[in-house]
Amino acid sequence: MTVSPAALVERARAAALGAYAPYSRFSVGCAIESVDGEIAVGANMENACYRLGVCAELAALTAAQQAFGLAKVARIAVAGGHVEDGSLAGEGVVTPCGGCRQAIFEAACLSGTDIEIICANGGGETIDVTGIRELLPKGFGPENLADAGA
Ligand code: THU
Repeated sequence: MTVSPAALVERARAAALGAYAPYSRFSVGCAIESVDGEIAVGANMENACYRLGVCAELAALTAAQQAFGLAKVARIAVAGGHVEDGSLAGEGVVTPCGGCRQAIFEAACLSGTDIEIICANGGGETIDVTGIRELLPKGFGPENLADAGA
């Protein structure tokens, strides 16, 4: 771990400025730090066909897989809100949606550890730190496929 939780949140807030969210007007940014201190980021990307929208966490996990591999994911910061005067703003703390929790859980299963989740409001003033195994208890992971056919 090379940066403070607040610094990782700032990377997530900055990433949110790269969101494409013309429909919800809700920009989300995500910054993922590896066990070696590398950082990958992503933002939500919506579509006129609404259901095709991609969450910030999934975009960042894709970038992380390219940069250092899912097995090295150590910490994830998420922040969301609206863009005001060129920066992310908003009161409510954003936690990963259910689908994103499942995707983060997959990374945690690869390393066999927990992944720290740092949730922030748009302004970055309020931070809630938790873990993926707390956000998704008894999750379904790769090991649950042990009984699949050959
Ligand atoms: N969103 C994320 O990017 N991550 C989450 O965990 C929650 C929701 C996005 C999806 C959509 O583009 C917008 O926020 C409103 O739901």
